Amino acid sequence: MQLFIDSANVDEIREIAAWGVLAGVTTNPSLAAKEGRDFTVMLAEICDLVAGDVSAEVVATDTAGMLAEAEPLLAVSDKVTIKLPLTPDGLAACRTLSDRGVRTNVTLCFSATQAILAAAAGATYVSPFVGRVDDTANDGIALLEEICAIYATRGYGTKVLAASLRHPQHVAQAALAGADVATLPAKVFHQMVRHPLTDRGLEQFLADWAGYRGGA
Ligand code: G3P
Repeated sequence: MQLFIDSANVDEIREIAAWGVLAGVTTNPSLAAKEGRDFTVMLAEICDLVAGDVSAEVVATDTAGMLAEAEPLLAVSDKVTIKLPLTPDGLAACRTLSDRGVRTNVTLCFSATQAILAAAAGATYVSPFVGRVDDTANDGIALLEEICAIYATRGYGTKVLAASLRHPQHVAQAALAGADVATLPAKVFHQMVRHPLTDRGLEQFLADWAGYRGGA
């Protein structure tokens, strides 16, 4: 399972990229708006930080508008993947872009049948929102498992990108479910790497080494 960071903040993307674990980036309009910067400038900086796909979302709600918005985003870098909402217009835009060979990420997926439509529209990625399903007192991981099972059974080419992951357990569960990609906020990367036994063990090793006299 590849790990993407879900962020539009250049500093935190740079920090996690330096760990050598990042395969890509997802952004969304809320994350981008939080930065208060020109989106294409920010997108270019983000693309310079990672080797893989960088999702940039359109905000138009009609197909023609989505396709028009995609053009300047695609001009930024060949890493740009166009993120489209899971609506009839979004699916139509996905089909047009996919037929042109443009990579797409169909987002705001909340059901297995929506995921089937994204695959049928030729999406490169589909993004089920695990945490937001949990927020409605339903089981986001169960939805992810269902989508992964359907995709595996049918042999769909679309990759399952587990999104809206809120904590490390979600990441482990997404991996077990068979997600191709998990996108997570910087905070979850930090939660994943820390373990008190790692800290304590390292402290002990360093203390023992400091007392070592090379056998003399
Ligand atoms: O980028 C989409 C998704 O990951 C958003 O997560 O936590 O706002 O539901 P969240």
